[in-house]
Amino acid sequence: MSGLTPEQAEAAEELQRLAEQIATHDRLYYQQEAPAISDAEYDELRRRNALLEARFPQLVREDSPSLRVGSTPAARFAPVEHGLPMLSIDNAFDDAALVEFEARVRRFLRLPEDEPVAFTAEPKIDGLSANLRYQRGRLVQAATRGDGRTGEDITDNIRTVGEIPQRLHGQGWPDEIEIRGEVYMRLDDFERMNAGEAQAGRRTYANARSGASGSLRQLDAEISRGRPLRFYAYAWGRASAPFAGTQWEALNRFRDWGFPVSELSDRVEGPEGMLAAYRAFEGARPTLGFEIDGVVFKVDRLDWQGRLGFVSRSPRWAIARKFPAQQAETLLEGIDIQVGRTGSLTPVARLRPVPVGGVVVKNATLHNADEIARLDVRVGDTVRLQRAGDVIPQVLGVVDADRPDRGEPYAFPSLCPCPLRTPVAKETRPSGVETVVRRCTGEFACPYQRLEHLIHFVSRRAFDVEGLGAKQLELFNAEGWVNEPADIFALPRNEAALAALRARDGFGETSIRNLLAGIEARRTISLERMLYALGVRHVGETTAVTLARGYGSWAAFRAAMDRLATGDEAAAAELDAMDQIGDAVVEALRSYFAEAHNRAAVDRLVAELDIQAAERPRADTAVAGKTVVFTGSLERMTRDEAKAQAESLGAKVASSVSKKTDLVVAGPGAGSKLKQAAELGLEVLSEDDWLTLVGG
Ligand code: IVH
Repeated sequence: MSGLTPEQAEAAEELQRLAEQIATHDRLYYQQEAPAISDAEYDELRRRNALLEARFPQLVREDSPSLRVGSTPAARFAPVEHGLPMLSIDNAFDDAALVEFEARVRRFLRLPEDEPVAFTAEPKIDGLSANLRYQRGRLVQAATRGDGRTGEDITDNIRTVGEIPQRLHGQGWPDEIEIRGEVYMRLDDFERMNAGEAQAGRRTYANARSGASGSLRQLDAEISRGRPLRFYAYAWGRASAPFAGTQWEALNRFRDWGFPVSELSDRVEGPEGMLAAYRAFEGARPTLGFEIDGVVFKVDRLDWQGRLGFVSRSPRWAIARKFPAQQAETLLEGIDIQVGRTGSLTPVARLRPVPVGGVVVKNATLHNADEIARLDVRVGDTVRLQRAGDVIPQVLGVVDADRPDRGEPYAFPSLCPCPLRTPVAKETRPSGVETVVRRCTGEFACPYQRLEHLIHFVSRRAFDVEGLGAKQLELFNAEGWVNEPADIFALPRNEAALAALRARDGFGETSIRNLLAGIEARRTISLERMLYALGVRHVGETTAVTLARGYGSWAAFRAAMDRLATGDEAAAAELDAMDQIGDAVVEALRSYFAEAHNRAAVDRLVAELDIQAAERPRADTAVAGKTVVFTGSLERMTRDEAKAQAESLGAKVASSVSKKTDLVVAGPGAGSKLKQAAELGLEVLSEDDWLTLVGG
């Protein structure tokens, strides 16, 4: 990214990586119910992102994770706007916070001291909330919570939940009402379902909550039907007429209308009543047979609820007293290494199975080598672990560290457990600073990293193969048709794969023809796209352009990499001398090309392609050597086109205005950058001026 200081360029690259990682984990968590990292690790990614954005506000990306919250509705279900937003509830983590909540309610309502305040105490069920719309007593639509305003249409799926009435029983219901509650699974049902899924060779779920969520959000509602889903009603949204004076009365109405309402719910008075109810739930929790993560208290009188209202996204009249994390001790039987899809190695504690809060824990993440060293956990130790609302249990420490016959400190493996047994490398930031992450260096060759690499390979700014995205690659890889990039270009000749593809649903003759045309269209590729597509760590688009210009041709680049991989100092120095290429890039390229599997895979790919030589930077144009910033909207070309054109004429394109900027091209709507340009006294051109200048 030209025009940025090296520090900014580094931050920009990291922000891009973070945006991608967070989006991936959001998708895994919210849409596939298969989280791959712990909540703590996820929070760390978000914290890092926030930190960088605070330091470099000008680098905040349009797709920044900080501009999105929680789960955006999955694209495959139709969006449904809720009649009234679905809110969240504030948490209380100790008794004092509960007492303070009661006092706050009293203060707000200015109640005299002797006026009792009643609350309902309800289990906080750990499932997923649903909004059920009834018209004249008939269930007409159901939606997930989504982002609180808009959820996903799961009407067909909800109709398969036996406990939810299709028609309301009794009478007295408003003509239109949204009933809200939790869809959940009992623990024994969950275990049975998971065992069945495992036996059938299908994916299992991490816990009952994700089991319920995954089972309900099936595109094929018939799959939901076979799943042991249950429901508890506890709230409502839009209602065309009042139907109760208190929350307690509302719960009773729901029961009359045919909904399950938790028998554990109670009506209590004052702080003493609330604390006693909390203790009672705590005691009942281990034998409930389903997961609850706290107790929800709601001011009983609805007129008071109305006066209390809301602060931001939660009501002032409700609070959730959360249970503390549950702990247990057990034996650490071993430490396994898991390889993630990007090749990161995560140590996982193999534990003697132990129940923690109603779930039998057999594994816990140890995060990374540094964490193991910090805890000094050794195989054979008794460890203390904790399970919060978290998906993944945590090891807190060693209980019997002073026993005399303790094992050796853990040595992190130096070879990847993948079949290739490739060396493990410490990950470095582009600045050269080592991180705690260890990575398999197998890249394309590593079966664990293959798919992720392939997806990057065909992505828009890499090979951009039309008709070939993550979904298709997942299938082609699972079928064994595409294991490495070269296989994509061999597909047109792969008769067996094409025949199998024709026989599949969803792949018509036209889509196959389009796919093959898309592949052929990319056999000719620019050197910079090729270099970016290889997916070498730290080689983003900008670096790829620099490398392409620096070496000019594939042959020259490849020869240099051979020398680099064999430890040739001159080759490293040549690289290092290029604009904005530092140790991390040199090291990443070296380790990539030192790996024989990578070299072979790259060479097989090259044999399929016609890689065009890079245009050397031109010195003979009006904008050669100048740094240009485009701002505002362009009307005659896209940003990408403008950038490509400028670069082809030897200009550098920067994303922010600085003293080093030579030209600013401003279209309608240009804002702060235009202002900065004026302050710095820079030359500002309209889009037409620019086109005249470059003769376009
Ligand atoms: S009442 C404005 N009652 O907790 C309050 N929520 O943090 C609306 N939940 O999304 C919700 N048990 O999924 C309410 N007895 C209960 C609940 C409950 C579980 C969940 C629900 C909601 C979240 C709020």
